[in-house]
Amino acid sequence: MADGAFGVSAETARETAGVWDKVKDHVTPLEWPAKAELIAEINRLKRERDAVILAHNYMTPDVFHGVGDHVGDSLGLAKEAAKSKAKVLVQAGVHFMAETSKILSPEKTVLIPDLRAGCSLAASITGADVRLIRQRHPGLPVVTYVNTSADVKAETDICCTSANAVQVVEWAAKEWGVDKVILIPDEFLARNVAAQTTVGIIAWKGRCEVHERFTAQDVADMREAWPEADILAHPECPEEILAAADFAGSTGAMADYVTTRKPRQVVLITECSMASNIAAEAPGTQFIGPCNLCPHMKRITLENIRDALLHMQFEVTVAEDVADRARLAVQRMVDLPPPAVPARYDMVKARHHVAVELI
Ligand code: 13P
Ligand code: SF4
Repeated sequence: MADGAFGVSAETARETAGVWDKVKDHVTPLEWPAKAELIAEINRLKRERDAVILAHNYMTPDVFHGVGDHVGDSLGLAKEAAKSKAKVLVQAGVHFMAETSKILSPEKTVLIPDLRAGCSLAASITGADVRLIRQRHPGLPVVTYVNTSADVKAETDICCTSANAVQVVEWAAKEWGVDKVILIPDEFLARNVAAQTTVGIIAWKGRCEVHERFTAQDVADMREAWPEADILAHPECPEEILAAADFAGSTGAMADYVTTRKPRQVVLITECSMASNIAAEAPGTQFIGPCNLCPHMKRITLENIRDALLHMQFEVTVAEDVADRARLAVQRMVDLPPPAVPARYDMVKARHHVAVELI
């Protein structure tokens, strides 16, 4: 179907050129005219406000392909927030991502379309908890997953994402001259990092409510039903899932894997929208379930992005003293060289079992 079909005006068709082709497997022709109008309105508002939209890989395809100026994983979006020249950043993602953008670009207005877009990992720990952990383990560096509040980042030494966690842990151990590192708050990410490094890991019992629900049985069932499929899993999944998968990596690394290796069939053990979004770039690949929805990511819609730009809501702020301390931890991460891509494809094969100490 052409962009202008189904009653879409010529102007809207111009503003949305190319989008229909990318979303047509996920948006019905009946829904398209209303979505196309919203996309066109958002793109006009972006120009008026000098705004860009940072869209995470878990956004629905209409948001991801329709209005995202920068799309990708948490690490990629944080880097874009740091270098963007726009006056306004709209975070099509969750609250901790918007705070990270504000920390890196304090002079910009950062908006999140729904303030309730949280994260179970970010909610699992506070700044006071980190201070207590430090008291219990003096002298050890604290590495914090970016899925945390600004208060938590302010108490830590360096942040990481699932794209660079092993690299950051090894960097911190070397820099501090120690053989153990505190990696919080995701217990499963910590266990999965421990399986790939000789650095000892002290972990916290936080969980991603989306990835903790996958089971080893899911992987076994998939292998049996689709023996040819490559199975890719996010490092927030339990360790037995990663041990059984063919590859583990951040959402960005999974997307790289699919577009670079072009598997005939693939299973993405992660949030549902990932597969829908990469499918447009991987026409020869068949995507097979299972997937779980992140209720926080799904709070962000075209409607509330339009309202965010129209009414300049909801502004995300971080107290200056907190932002200044948190910036050191986030900037240290951003300044590290990008993790080596080919090595990531062999991560799972290199696993060994290491006990993780839980706080
Ligand atoms: P990525 O860093 O892989 O994009 O993951 C962020 C996230 O929230 C995954 O649940
Ligand atoms: Fe948080 Fe998990 Fe949702 Fe990512 S998928 S935002 S880690 S709850």
